[in-house]
Amino acid sequence: MRTRLAAGIAVLVVLSQTVPASAAGPLKSVTNRYVGSAVAVQHLNAEADYKSVLTREFDSVTPENEMKWGVVEAVRGQYDWSGADAIVAYAKKTGKSVRGHTLVWHSQLPDWVGGLEAAELRAVVKDHIRTEAGRYRGKIRAWDVVNEAFNEDGTRRQTVFQEKLGDRYIADAFRWAHAADPKAKLYINDYNIEGLNPKSDATFELVKSLKRQGVPIHGVGIQGHLSLMYGFPSGMKENIARFAALGLDVAITEADVRIPLPVTPEKLDAQASYFGQVWDACHAVRRCVEFTTWGFTDRHSWVPDVFPGEGAACLFDENLRPKPAYARLNP
Ligand code: G3I
Repeated sequence: MRTRLAAGIAVLVVLSQTVPASAAGPLKSVTNRYVGSAVAVQHLNAEADYKSVLTREFDSVTPENEMKWGVVEAVRGQYDWSGADAIVAYAKKTGKSVRGHTLVWHSQLPDWVGGLEAAELRAVVKDHIRTEAGRYRGKIRAWDVVNEAFNEDGTRRQTVFQEKLGDRYIADAFRWAHAADPKAKLYINDYNIEGLNPKSDATFELVKSLKRQGVPIHGVGIQGHLSLMYGFPSGMKENIARFAALGLDVAITEADVRIPLPVTPEKLDAQASYFGQVWDACHAVRRCVEFTTWGFTDRHSWVPDVFPGEGAACLFDENLRPKPAYARLNP
């Protein structure tokens, strides 16, 4: 009896590992948008099941940390491209496009950058952009050139770049990135700009003004880090549409939906509804060209470290089984 039960369980385990996530085909096959995920090189190298689901479901990847300044040049002049190179090579081998993340960001910045005076900082930022965007020239579909430049009230975030270089650092960064990789689509990227609010208004005014000045900016990245605790942002479709009306592409760049733990079936359904609303808002506007999630499995997520008591924010659970949110996008 026990042996038969064990055999049955073994069959079920094998089936759950081999049955595709959806009879309709992978997520990348049900839309004409790029469907991406953030990827961490250490998991890609160490976990065959992680690699297999990523490869099967998505057609774009964003290095989660591997292209950040603090990783590629922690010590001035000493570069470590190993993680970024590995992800770019994986993407080439599996026919995926790459979203580069990110060239100018106040976080994960090497210590040595913070202490520089203005003229040197400007030269160093220019050199960083030229070196990194130049290294991957022709291999990156879209770059998050400037990340998280605004406060919630729409004022400029007081970063080392803002304080020492002034407002113009953003236009400069786009010009330098364009010179380094003329074919890459260049984006400004931020969180809490999903709906209509002071921060998305400020982003809108900035990109409108950059376009008017002829700065090479091609898109707005809406990160899409949502939480069931804060409700769904209002006016997402209208917000995407107003950026598109400026002649810009829009990308959902880091979608995830945090659940206050413990997980319940009701909360998973609510999460599915949130993911579905983001997906639908993107598909309602022709120029929303990409739907990328910030990781795809609850096995690995930045959320519990940063928001204790919340988690389970991804489309697949820890065992890489598709959750209701996945089924909502790919019924
Ligand atoms: O690599 C070191 C490791 O050597 C060390 O042992 C370990 C100890 O804590 O830390 C490791 O570095 C961590 C790194 O992730 C890699 O795991 C950093 O401490 C940690 O701060 C870093 O967090 C990343 C975070 O950005 C940094 O702000 C998250 O993985 C990453 O998911 C997150 O991504 C950001 C986007 O870039 C921008 N938008 C928001 C998003 C979520 O915060």
